Amino acid sequence: MTTIIDGNAIADQIRDDVSDCTDRLASDGVTPGLATVLMSDDGASETYVSMKQQACAEIGIEGYHHEIDADEPAEELYDRIEELNEDPAVHGILVQMPVPDHVDKRTVLESIDPMKDVDGFHPENVGRLVAGNARYKPCTPHGVQKILAATGVETEGKDAVVVGRSDIVGKPMANLLIQYGEGGNATTTICHSRTRNLAERTRSADIVIAAAGVPQMIDGSMLSDGTVVIDVGINRVDADNEKGYELVGDVDFESAAEKASAITPVPGGVGPLTIAMLMYNTVKAASLQSGVAVDLP
Ligand code: GUN
Repeated sequence: MTTIIDGNAIADQIRDDVSDCTDRLASDGVTPGLATVLMSDDGASETYVSMKQQACAEIGIEGYHHEIDADEPAEELYDRIEELNEDPAVHGILVQMPVPDHVDKRTVLESIDPMKDVDGFHPENVGRLVAGNARYKPCTPHGVQKILAATGVETEGKDAVVVGRSDIVGKPMANLLIQYGEGGNATTTICHSRTRNLAERTRSADIVIAAAGVPQMIDGSMLSDGTVVIDVGINRVDADNEKGYELVGDVDFESAAEKASAITPVPGGVGPLTIAMLMYNTVKAASLQSGVAVDLP
């Protein structure tokens, strides 16, 4: 029997718990505020940001959305970040990635106040994560940890293979898996585009986390029976339908599900958790900045 993991149900539970925390903050006169900044014409990025804003509205977080034309000078974005750093109503700042080529990504990440960096991408927050003292765990890897816990998957002593070495998912995911404590203690391998014999690595894994951004690159032939498969990929591929595209993961779901003991679908797997953990980090940011303690799950 293969468990098809219901990411929406797991995310709903977390969102309920985070919502209780926003109530707690509200009783002390604190409304968490999240600023999203979009500097892109990419349809998928627009969709992700609007989903993040909608989630804010649903759980009592004040959303502030900023759009900057993709062909504006980079300074427009750097200046906007400075304004948001200074705005006391804004506890969290998220600049949707990727930014246009003429914008320096590192300048963006380094100019966000680390206390407001709810993505966890500022070097100070990356350093804290690596040191085992995370302030804001990056949303997608944190969400994967929550999925594993909610599905009853023990990570301690297991062989985990992370496919993909991005700053947003692959690297922080591996760092979380090797930490001491719950959701960690896994023997962790990071694979990437230059890895030789990828299938050998994935076949030897108890847990495979696919985060390479390559549609359906992991199929059933690359997995052993009983593997837990977490698919982080959300790829738009051409399709003969009204939208002209469909969403597929980095995993070939059908063949992988024949081998997996548990697997996340796309959509409805990891995606909802990314948003739930952003809400979590925003509430944590509001708590840290206001000094009002909350009991986050
Ligand atoms: N683009 C894709 N995923 C993310 C994310 O988690 N945060 C930001 N800021 N941009 C992204």
